[in-house]
Amino acid sequence: MEEFFVQEDQVIIIVLTGVLFLLLMGVSLLLFFFFSRKKIVEKEIEKNILEITYQKEIIQSIIITQEEERKRIAQDLHDDISSKLNVINLNANLLLDGELTPDEYTFVNKLILEVTDRTLKSARKIAHNLLPPILEEFGFKDAVEELADTFNNSRKINIEYTINYPKKLLVPQNELHLFRITQELINNSIKHGKANNSKINISYKNNELIYSYTDNGVGFNVANIDNKKGLGIKNIESRVTLLNGKYNIDSKIGKGFKIEIII
Ligand SMILES: Nc1ncnc2c1ncn2[C@@H]1O[C@H](COP(=O)(O)OP(=O)(O)OP(=O)(O)O)[C@@H](O)[C@H]1O
Ligand SMILES: [Mg+2]
Repeated sequence: MEEFFVQEDQVIIIVLTGVLFLLLMGVSLLLFFFFSRKKIVEKEIEKNILEITYQKEIIQSIIITQEEERKRIAQDLHDDISSKLNVINLNANLLLDGELTPDEYTFVNKLILEVTDRTLKSARKIAHNLLPPILEEFGFKDAVEELADTFNNSRKINIEYTINYPKKLLVPQNELHLFRITQELINNSIKHGKANNSKINISYKNNELIYSYTDNGVGFNVANIDNKKGLGIKNIESRVTLLNGKYNIDSKIGKGFKIEIII
């Protein structure tokens, strides 16, 4: 009888230990899931914050670019157009006064025509800078050809280009983005790279437009890119984002510069 009770006690102890063990396992599992979920959520929040910060930086750089562009247009208008219109205005008033000798009259008249002509040229130049007409009329390929020819003729840098992608693949606004990116890259190759050769290669494969630009200049350390004050590369980044693309810059001191953009 006593032996039976002893056995029953042992069974109860074993069952209780088992239950306790299962409970402990359950609690540990719960804690494990709770903390790993918390970690995942924390990581997601961190990622979202990084993304928001990145988007903010891009928007900031777009705003700065717009402001810079406005400032430049205002300066061009002020220096190039307003000053010339002032000269025309003054001289037209002289004609109105009627106190000029016939020779003076002819002189002032000629001057007005000459300055009007120069004002028209300036206005055309400002408009061309805002939107190159060749880009609007014939598209990106022709605009790059013209751009490259201008640089090649200047003998500062030799630009080679191979452009192959279906016409109308990019809407005009996106072609303008690619064109502005190309202008900035060439300017950087000359200004910083001291390069005498650069290559533009655009191809279309598996539904992707691959834009690559290389120069043979002095290169720079890409790791320091975030510390640079310039806006050029930041603008390129903003434009690539607007194009829904990705980009990668590869450069080393003494090894030239390369950027690949995939849209
Ligand atoms: N092709 C290149 N060769 C060598 N260094 C380059 C090249 N492109 C860019 N860099 C380096 O990267 C930096 C950042 O270029 P970015 O175009 O952003 O600015 P920036 O040209 O100095 O100024 P901004 O474009 O605003 O006039 C440059 O100051 C230069 O040090
Ligand atoms: Mg630049």
